[in-house]
Amino acid sequence: MSVVDEIKQRLDLVDVISAYTPLTKAGRNFKGLCPFHNEKTPSFIVFPETQTWHCFGACGTGGDLFAFIMRRENVDFGEALRLLAERAGVQLAARDADSARQRDEVERLREVNQAAAEHLNHVLLETPAGAPGRDYLARRGVRPETIGAFQLGYAPDEWQALHDHLRHKGYGDDDLLAAGLLSESDSGRLYDRFRGRVIFPIRDIRGRVLGFGGRVLGDGVPKYLNTPQTPLFDKGAILYGIDLAREAIREQQRAVIVEGYMDVIVPYQEGIRNVVAVMGTALSEAHINVLKRLTHTLILALDADAAGLAAVERGTETARRALPRRVVPIIQPSGLIRYEEQLDAEIRIMTLPDGLDPDELVLADRARWDALVGDALPVAEHFFRQARTELDVTTGKGKRAAMDRLLPIIQSIENAAERTHYVQQLAQWLRMDERIISEQLAGHPTATPRRRPRPRAETAVAAPPGVSQGHDALDELEQHVLGLVMEHPRLALETTNAGLLSEEAFGDMRRRRAFAVARELSASGLLPDLAEVLERLDTESRTHVESILRHRQGRPEQSPEALQEDLNKASARLLKAHLTRDIEQLQFALLDAHQEGLREREAELHLAIDRLTRQRHLVDQRYHAATYFGRRQAKEAVTRHHG
Ligand code: UTP
Ligand code: MN
Repeated sequence: MSVVDEIKQRLDLVDVISAYTPLTKAGRNFKGLCPFHNEKTPSFIVFPETQTWHCFGACGTGGDLFAFIMRRENVDFGEALRLLAERAGVQLAARDADSARQRDEVERLREVNQAAAEHLNHVLLETPAGAPGRDYLARRGVRPETIGAFQLGYAPDEWQALHDHLRHKGYGDDDLLAAGLLSESDSGRLYDRFRGRVIFPIRDIRGRVLGFGGRVLGDGVPKYLNTPQTPLFDKGAILYGIDLAREAIREQQRAVIVEGYMDVIVPYQEGIRNVVAVMGTALSEAHINVLKRLTHTLILALDADAAGLAAVERGTETARRALPRRVVPIIQPSGLIRYEEQLDAEIRIMTLPDGLDPDELVLADRARWDALVGDALPVAEHFFRQARTELDVTTGKGKRAAMDRLLPIIQSIENAAERTHYVQQLAQWLRMDERIISEQLAGHPTATPRRRPRPRAETAVAAPPGVSQGHDALDELEQHVLGLVMEHPRLALETTNAGLLSEEAFGDMRRRRAFAVARELSASGLLPDLAEVLERLDTESRTHVESILRHRQGRPEQSPEALQEDLNKASARLLKAHLTRDIEQLQFALLDAHQEGLREREAELHLAIDRLTRQRHLVDQRYHAATYFGRRQAKEAVTRHHG
């Protein structure tokens, strides 16, 4: 048995999760308030039989024991394995000597860093030597309790102060050098790396010190000095402030990304706690991998200069690569449906006022910060707006420049409708034919390699649905469709995805509620079982569904293909019947309006009737599309089987 299986066998998911959020029994399963987002009614379900969990609320995600711990503790798989092995009392195989040594080294570095951070913080807060640091921070509006939260420090302008202190504490020169706290002169003399600087300990998401940044008090260079690359300190992966921001990011479901230490510290002090900083680098995949476990909404706060913008472009590109995707159905004008993978995340850009950093802005005008966060624009919108203010497109040169800037942005948009929207915008602005822009777009190298849409199986159907149905027949049809939905959630999902089934198919509110619950459950990725759906229904709807199901007992067995066909056909029929009834009613109203000479009302009704008629036509098209694909696939399967 693998270690993972052994751990899973020894730990019960219900026990583990109960430590994070209280669970109550609900049928065969347990439910509680989701530990990953704020909610008032429980939408978090634990399934003891499969030892899995799922949040049917805002998260819409789930998984096993490991997925839970990784997400809840913000750790990677290896770390989750370690934590859970310890809890389960499972011995992890001894790693080879090399990695054991590496682990020891990393542990030692952490210890040295921690000792240094504590000492420099003590110097800043408690000693006369810390006075210049205290004055500096006070000038920048930082209060003592904030200094405590970030464990800020001060390294006096001396060559050996930290070295001496840590040596007395028992750390060797090798450790101090490895941690990047000491530098070595050409003549081999060791001296403190950070001198005369305010010290910002840089911590990981769990609050462990990875390294330091040190700022000069005046105008010296470099303005900031950082720990060199060490096994702990990787500048391109660090999010300054993440340990203090993680809860707020999770709660507010958005992270604001800034560029400087002070731009995290001062907002935090003023109660804005979802802010982290990258350290003079573009947003990297490593950054996003940490953030995406907390939220899928990233707001990049940028000063208005051009250098920053190149960084955004790189950053958003990286984000597109690293952030999760979901598959969504796209209905084409022909009525055919295809599936497209889209970014399940949002990146917005917040433009800071000229010459103001976030720390200054927050101190000067907190409300303005809030407004700017609220006004942050989706990436494409932002670049369009910027191009409009900067380029004169009455000249050919200006048009070229606009195309050069905006085509890669449009190209990277995953949603076809959205992409078309921006093509139109660009065409209007440049007074050019949309087709020319589309051609250019087609020839333009894609900034981000887009994954190929995943084809979906659609299954066989027979003849097109009729429309004329008496009331009783319709009622029976509704019951039949709902019965199929409850008994075969997977088929129901296919039919729903094909655009042939929706709540509107049911005139009876109890059925409508039952369908809505089933769809909501399956939309979140897991196919629900009947018990789960029933459990979440009100008594009235549940009794009704149970009665429908009882009446269905003893029906002959059918192949999945035949059932799918049945469901597609019956659902399409229902949708069309309801649309037909609506159209008929509007036609009567139209007649009235015409006789009474109400011209405006007449026009309105015409539009509404047109709309419903188009919808009815669309149902037919979708139905034929499903039929066509289904038949072809069925035929192919048969051919393969015989050939
Ligand atoms: P900025 O120069 O914009 O500094 O660098 P800042 O954060 O506004 O600093 P204050 O407000 O004047 O104190 C942005 C970030 O780039 C990195 C640091 O992480 C800094 O916070 N940086 C900058 C360096 O690493 N070294 C430098 O010399 C300058
Ligand atoms: Mn600044």
